Amino acid sequence: MKTTGGSDDQKRRAAERAAELVSSGETVGLGTGSTTAFAIRALGRAVDGGLDVRGVPTSFASRELARDVGIPLASLDEVASVDIAIDGADRLDADLNLIKGGGAAHAREKIVAAAASRFVVVADPSKVAETLDRSVPLEVLPDARTVVAGAVEELGGDPELRRAERKDGPVVTDNGNLVLDCEFGRIADPASLAADLSATPGVVEHGLFVGLADEAYVGTDDGVDVRR
Ligand code: 5RP
Repeated sequence: MKTTGGSDDQKRRAAERAAELVSSGETVGLGTGSTTAFAIRALGRAVDGGLDVRGVPTSFASRELARDVGIPLASLDEVASVDIAIDGADRLDADLNLIKGGGAAHAREKIVAAAASRFVVVADPSKVAETLDRSVPLEVLPDARTVVAGAVEELGGDPELRRAERKDGPVVTDNGNLVLDCEFGRIADPASLAADLSATPGVVEHGLFVGLADEAYVGTDDGVDVRR
């Protein structure tokens, strides 16, 4: 999986501490991204050691990794609830509001996070900001791309279709949709912008996670900073 932002050691520290929160008998939401991948690997080792859990992956990539490391899996539609979800973030503010979707998986990530009794964010210090200040990914129905882009401009944003790095074409999500990365500058009122984006027809899901995270584990060079 692609590595972004802070060091792998910082990410690993955060993710391994979060994985220790999981108990036998629990259903665990498995987020997506390079930080969460460390948690999935740690859970795989714990399963080898006797931990009895089932994982609910939030993307094709996390499903493949979880399967490789031996975590028993259930799909989202097979579970009524999730005990704990562990996932990364692209930005994390002081109120634990997030911008997610760097891996274009935020639609399923949000469903799993919202279904979880406990949602734990794992991150490195490069993700932490006073105010959310990064472009917001929108998963959009392919046919709605142009009208959603117009609606984003009316909200004061600057939308850009996400393109695949090594292919000549757009990024297509696991759900067969496109991603618009929308620059809004510093987002002073994430709840208000989230409501406007949710109300825009054609938006399958946006990457603002407002009021969902219960705690954040931020890996540093010598430990883990726990934020609640
Ligand atoms: C995927 C996500 C990721 O959790 C987010 O992009 C952080 O990824 P990483 O841990 O690789 O920095 O939201 O949709």
